[in-house]
Amino acid sequence: MNIIEISNLTHRIIGGKPILNNINLTVKEGEFIVVAGANGSGKSTLFKQLNGLLVAGQGRVKVDGVFVADDLKRARQKVGMIFQEADSQIVGETVFDDVAFGPENLGFPGEDVERVVNRTLDLVGLLGLKESPPHILSGGEKRRLAIAGVLAMTPKVIVFDEPFSNLDYPGIQQVQTQMAALHSERHTILVATHNLETVADMADRLILMEEGKIVKDGPFYQVVHSAEAFGVRLPQSVQRRGEFQAWLKR
Ligand SMILES: Nc1ncnc2c1ncn2[C@@H]1O[C@H](COP(=O)(O)OP(=O)(O)OP(=O)(O)O)[C@@H](O)[C@H]1O
Ligand SMILES: [Mg+2]
Repeated sequence: MNIIEISNLTHRIIGGKPILNNINLTVKEGEFIVVAGANGSGKSTLFKQLNGLLVAGQGRVKVDGVFVADDLKRARQKVGMIFQEADSQIVGETVFDDVAFGPENLGFPGEDVERVVNRTLDLVGLLGLKESPPHILSGGEKRRLAIAGVLAMTPKVIVFDEPFSNLDYPGIQQVQTQMAALHSERHTILVATHNLETVADMADRLILMEEGKIVKDGPFYQVVHSAEAFGVRLPQSVQRRGEFQAWLKR
């Protein structure tokens, strides 16, 4: 089943050239998709169309069978987004309140909110910090808090925009573990990253963007060979394999 269907999507700023230019994209439920491309190629703008944070002038975006523009509230529940800047996502006075914000807004009854929040905080390993103010958290903990806030809304699709930026190695591993767990639970995952290394083992499909267009789209280990041409570094494992094959041919 297709969980996302985007057709002929063009997004332009008044008077400017298009930021997204005739995007066509279909995503099957449960896929793990990586979107890469140079700075400014349109990755974040594309992601914001999925939950209606941005609505393009031209084209259609359907999530789980319904047009996003027709029901923004539903789109926000279906598509959870971990933003590029973790700080921008923090809304609560405490870790608990921060995660409670989403389910409260969805109108869950109080005792359900408490149960959901405790469960999601436990899942991301932050239950022990639930009374803490979010600003004392480390970068990795803030990213996990953002993930908890999204999970509490029980979205089908989870979008990660540069989830590894500013994280140390344990922080990266924690986010990777969350991603892998969500993927194994049949969530559909979309990740924008400049660091293909971090997602190579999990990804089904790789999409390369350039100047608002999708220029490559296919199985990760096929498309990855084109990455360098579009300003994205090859994962070392792929690079080494290429060097080894070249050496064999000598
Ligand atoms: N509100 C806006 N007004 C004008 N230009 C914008 C606006 N939002 C985005 N842009 C431009 O659209 C282009 C695409 O931006 P976007 O943030 O989607 O890129 P990106 O691929 O996510 O880049 P990065 O890798 O740096 O995160 C950029 O050139 C950006 O300057
Ligand atoms: Mg971006």
